[in-house]
Amino acid sequence: MLIYSESAYRQLGRNLIIPGGTRTIDATGKLVMPGGIDPHTHFELEMMGAKTADDFYKGTRAAVAGGTTTVIDFVLPEKGQSLIEAYNNWREKADGKVCCDYGLHVGVTWWSPSVRKDMEKLVSEEYGVNSFKMFMAYKDAWMLNDYDLYCAIEACAELRALPQVHAENGHIIARNTEKLLAAGVTGPEGHEKSRDEEVEGEAVNRACVIANQADSPLYIVHMMSKSAVRALQQARSRQRPPLYGETLAATVGTDGTHYRNACFRHAAAHVLSPPLRPDPSTPQAIVEALADDHLQLIGSDNCTFHEKDKELGKGNFAKIPNGVNGVEDRMAILWQKGVNTGVMDPCRFVAVTSSTAAKIFNVWPAKGRVDVNSDADLVVWDPRQERTISAATHHHAVDFNIFEGQHVVGGPQYVIVGGRVCLDDGQLRVAEGHGKFLKTPTNSPYVYGGGEEVDAPAPKPLHVEIQPRVTNGTPTPEA
Ligand code: URP
Ligand code: ZN
Ligand code: ZN
Ligand code: ZN
Repeated sequence: MLIYSESAYRQLGRNLIIPGGTRTIDATGKLVMPGGIDPHTHFELEMMGAKTADDFYKGTRAAVAGGTTTVIDFVLPEKGQSLIEAYNNWREKADGKVCCDYGLHVGVTWWSPSVRKDMEKLVSEEYGVNSFKMFMAYKDAWMLNDYDLYCAIEACAELRALPQVHAENGHIIARNTEKLLAAGVTGPEGHEKSRDEEVEGEAVNRACVIANQADSPLYIVHMMSKSAVRALQQARSRQRPPLYGETLAATVGTDGTHYRNACFRHAAAHVLSPPLRPDPSTPQAIVEALADDHLQLIGSDNCTFHEKDKELGKGNFAKIPNGVNGVEDRMAILWQKGVNTGVMDPCRFVAVTSSTAAKIFNVWPAKGRVDVNSDADLVVWDPRQERTISAATHHHAVDFNIFEGQHVVGGPQYVIVGGRVCLDDGQLRVAEGHGKFLKTPTNSPYVYGGGEEVDAPAPKPLHVEIQPRVTNGTPTPEA
């Protein structure tokens, strides 16, 4: 039994005395686990001349529907823009709209002494940021050269923050794109051709070398290929500071054969960077890498664009806005591909979908753990729930789903966000603005050492007792 009131757990054990007026949820035969943490989303992001379809309301609502109770989004400043200004813009967009808690990574999209000063401010208690993303791709937009990347990674280590990289060689991509377009390859299939596995693997290796030179830990976002995982494994065997690899629901749940689909909309809907790989054995290899700790966590990189926006790239694949869905289906897809196939057990599932992110981003054990005094973010997972994923029934703002038609067994029956039942026996009842901004303190003991590390508890069937809770937000019941 597990009793909570307000937004934290109060008691955990057998035969507890249930306070009067308490609602009881029977979780017999279900798994009770900490709410999912998606370490990689893009809500209300403007990129490549378009704005993502999912805003902070729709995006976090979709997250909750799928069992995720915390997301970490990316502030991405324009080149030359103050990081603080960009951070404030993001807070303004998100606060008041989010249905679950959210944290922020900040992009270092250009380099100067003022950027270094902004980073120092951002890691303070006032702003609560502990991770910065640098791009090795998107030449002429967000890409840093190796010198600036080295400086930015060094700054992260000095501030005891975590550097993150988007690892692809932007120069090679730019030249390959010119050559492909000149040869008449203009459709979405050109996207993967311009940036194959080798282009990702090279950048993973280079990023690891730079981090090692800076004596810094490193987190590589959205790892999409076997070559990338191999490069990370090799670096890990020779380097001391920790290296973390994140993959995506998209990588596990679909593949790059869709780029050859004759329908532009279909193929373009799968365009993200790094791309999905045409090698059909990649998804299974990535699931195994997650199970074997060659990769540490799974995000979604949710970055959805409407069809009219994807059409900006009709006639030139390099202009297709990059991004796919995933925040809603991330957990069900991994359960289906990882747990139902016997590749990973439910404990590892909890680690890669929740607890490890909480530890890396230094919000554990408040997040990512079911224990007394932890936040009451909970999923009652029904391993027998059956569903066919479809854009017709998902909660995203877009009308395309890259997992369309996939049958998944296992999904959330109840999702409790900060003590509020937001998915109630399958009924979504989120409240706009119920979520809070989650500060992520620097100097994570998990990353920088010095703290005791305790494994996430095994999820087990139990009864969940719920105290009624008053919230400010307006509930929005829906089927
Ligand atoms: O294609 C992607 N991944 N879109 C979002 C931006 C990024 O690089 O994460
Ligand atoms: Zn990226
Ligand atoms: Zn189609
Ligand atoms: Zn991303």
